[in-house]
Amino acid sequence: MALRDIIILPDKRLRVVSAPIEAVTPAIRRLADDMLETMYEAPGIGLAGIQVAEPLRIVTMDLARKEDEDSAPNPRVFINPEIVARSDELSVYEEGCLSIPEYYGEVERPARVRVRYLDLDGKPHEEDAEGLFATCIQHEIDHLDGVLFVDYLSKLKRDRVLKKFAKAAKRAAAE
Ligand code: NI
Repeated sequence: MALRDIIILPDKRLRVVSAPIEAVTPAIRRLADDMLETMYEAPGIGLAGIQVAEPLRIVTMDLARKEDEDSAPNPRVFINPEIVARSDELSVYEEGCLSIPEYYGEVERPARVRVRYLDLDGKPHEEDAEGLFATCIQHEIDHLDGVLFVDYLSKLKRDRVLKKFAKAAKRAAAE
């Protein structure tokens, strides 16, 4: 396993549409391990391949400690995840993102979704998600399509955060 660098705004790669994974090879399993290690180290609860500069449709997640501090880790990997059904009911959650550090905003999304994905053996699954799981899997699948949670905020808020990160990148480059 190895730690990977997480790319952050305004890195244009965050807007790339990631490619489907055609076969779950040992290289894909290694990528999943690296992503989990990187996610735990950050620390974060979800990570998409493109966030470690791999434009492939893969997501890692662990909600266990977020939901109950004392629970054991529950690392999860979703390959080619897609939402196949959404509830009409919406819910609001304050989201953050490892690629937009220290920024949070309230996003409204379907409260429940059904997600289809492959596991690390290439086996297909369908699973119903609600609560934090529903929010997180939608946020991560958005990454695979080049969409960020700030895209759901008002134009004013979005422009403000994009500007802030663009300025910070400029400052860092000048140093
Ligand atoms: Ni994110």
